[in-house]
Amino acid sequence: MKIAIVGLGFVGLSLTSVLSAKGLQVVGIDIDKDKCKKISHGIAPFFEKDLEKTLRNGLKKQLEINDDISLIDDCDYIFVTVGTPQKSDGSIELSIIKRVVSAIGQNLKKNHKNPIIFIKSTVIPGTMQNTILPILENKSGKKAGKDFGLISNPEFLQESSAIKDTKFPHVVVLGGYETKYMKKAKKFFSKLHPKVPIIITNHHTAEMIKYANNSFLATKISFINQLSNICQNIPGANIDDIAKTIGLDPRIGKLFLNAGPGYGGSCLPKDMKALINFAEKIGIRPTFLNEVEKTNENQCINIISLIERKIGNVNKKRITVLGTSFKPETDDVRDSISIKLIKKLVKKGAIITIHDPKAIENTRKIFLKKIEYKKSIIDSLAKSQCAIIMTQWKEYSKITNSTIKKMDRKIIIDSRRVLVEKDIDADYQAIGIGNNK
Ligand code: UGA
Repeated sequence: MKIAIVGLGFVGLSLTSVLSAKGLQVVGIDIDKDKCKKISHGIAPFFEKDLEKTLRNGLKKQLEINDDISLIDDCDYIFVTVGTPQKSDGSIELSIIKRVVSAIGQNLKKNHKNPIIFIKSTVIPGTMQNTILPILENKSGKKAGKDFGLISNPEFLQESSAIKDTKFPHVVVLGGYETKYMKKAKKFFSKLHPKVPIIITNHHTAEMIKYANNSFLATKISFINQLSNICQNIPGANIDDIAKTIGLDPRIGKLFLNAGPGYGGSCLPKDMKALINFAEKIGIRPTFLNEVEKTNENQCINIISLIERKIGNVNKKRITVLGTSFKPETDDVRDSISIKLIKKLVKKGAIITIHDPKAIENTRKIFLKKIEYKKSIIDSLAKSQCAIIMTQWKEYSKITNSTIKKMDRKIIIDSRRVLVEKDIDADYQAIGIGNNK
């Protein structure tokens, strides 16, 4: 059995590495030659725990990395894991996935195999039926369900635990028709992930499940963030104790109730906007989803107001931002709330210094010389009038009075409450805590 994975981003490269490390024959394909070169030398193009180790295991076995899509030729399973970026109106850009499935279709024409094509890319309901399937059938001159299998297979991995999530998913969703290909796919996944529930449904539902999942996670975060704003105005109230307690109710669950500066990253904000755009297109007013989004956008504005309340007009004031990655254990700054905050502060004339354990280089690509970059927390705080902790890196919970000693004014805004238990000699305000410590 041979497997092709087309698109070596977070999802594709994690899958490529995990499957090949298990000893399966895999070809990982990406249009970017430089990226392929790096990967084939065992170097991951981004930081992700355990990824390089897993990739190198695969490379020692039967893994091949290439930029040539015609290598899908003798594959039994073809996973499509290319990106579906956001357009300015919130809808998703399909040009990349269209180009890839066209190439797969052309290849299928001369192919004697009957492969199964799994679409893992996040796509709006109807994309499989109205866009992907017609392209594949037209280009190949073959019929889906008869000559080849076509299955919607959304992905639920999280960055920072991508390898673990790929090895041990909580669910496998297979969307499509009940054909021999579906039976084969089910068998493949039950062998790969014994005991993991496999949900078999139609294409539209599988596509919608992905949006339901991410929009529910976004909802939980906006819910707790709104509550944290209320708590901030109740003397002594503590959002973490509240989250911990309501999380013990099995109907609520403890995860994704960590209040903070709002959700960022390459998925939650994009998927929320795409779902809102889709709902409007089909004549539904997504009032609830709109509020989830608005609450998220306000979280960053609230932090700016807090800074201004503490230090007044930020123009020409030196401010330190601790953490620019969209969450800890990643160097990814895509749609990071911290980046958004820095942009707003720079626009207001603030002098920004940043620190991040992994994301300095990616941050530099955005701001170039507009801001300052420091490798040590102490240096980043020197002469600063205010520090804002934006990402929950464990390094920041180790901050002490001596770390902040070079600050001009010792004002700390802690959006993740990493210092809440500490006796820091500063004007300290934690998001979601109802008193000044
Ligand atoms: C998200 C989903 O969690 C995955 O299940 C999904 O597969 C993925 O998107 C995707 O669609 O590809 P990810 O983007 O890696 O994964 O990030 P999350 O861990 O979901 O975090 C998103 C944002 O929410 C981050 O900014 C994080 O700091 C924030 N967050 C998360 C909170 O503020 N509080 C929480 O309790 C949890």
